[in-house]
Amino acid sequence: MDWHEWHADYDRPGSGLARRLRAVQAQVEAALDDSPPGPLRVLSLCAGQGRDLLEVLADHPRRHDVRARLVELDPRNAAIAEAAARAAGLTGVEVLVADASLTDHYRDLAPADLVLVCGVFGNITDEDIERTVEHCAALCRTGGTVIWTRHRGAPDRVPLICEWFEDRGFHRHWLSDPDAGFGAAAHRLHADPRPLTAGVRMFTFVGRPEDAFEDSAADTSEDADE
Ligand SMILES: C[S@@+](CC[C@H](N)C(=O)[O-])C[C@H]1O[C@@H](n2cnc3c(N)ncnc32)[C@H](O)[C@@H]1O
Repeated sequence: MDWHEWHADYDRPGSGLARRLRAVQAQVEAALDDSPPGPLRVLSLCAGQGRDLLEVLADHPRRHDVRARLVELDPRNAAIAEAAARAAGLTGVEVLVADASLTDHYRDLAPADLVLVCGVFGNITDEDIERTVEHCAALCRTGGTVIWTRHRGAPDRVPLICEWFEDRGFHRHWLSDPDAGFGAAAHRLHADPRPLTAGVRMFTFVGRPEDAFEDSAADTSEDADE
């Protein structure tokens, strides 16, 4: 998968990915709107070009309260995110070219007010999804929000992922319609965050062939998603 090229579908109006982006951005905006006054912390795992967060933050009244860390492995995507953050004057945004699966990258900022796990759950095993959800309960503060996505192609894991979040003290704040052509959700933590375990790998991208079409910028179906 060329993860730089993957982002091109965001610029195709009406694509599943473009519609998913708008839905995720609405949830980012809602999470920022609902956050308590004072400094805010945001984490984005496998942030790509950071469009979901940066395009909202650029015009949001809380923009100067936010300290954000975007972790992305592909330097081309990271450079685009970095340029967007600088162009918008978002001095609290840091873009790290690194392996986002490692808990050590979040130790100084967790638990955060907002955690983005978008475009990840369609690329990792079920076991890794559940492990990552488990760690979300340490990455996110009480009252904070995790926004995540997962395609709804077979097997549709969205209901199970919701269960995993809700078993760990999260409440469902929003879930996309089953027929939206993408899966996205916002869960808010209503429990105390647990301590973040150091030195843990949460997931490994596996690039399963059966999911590849969901992730491909070349896909033109209405179901295109992460
Ligand atoms: C499906 S894209 C999603 C990008 C972004 N979160 C979004 O939703 O627009 C997956 C991204 O994960 C990045 N990636 C894959 N494995 C990674 C890893 N171990 N650590 C950090 N980034 C990774 C890829 O380079 C790619 O940009």
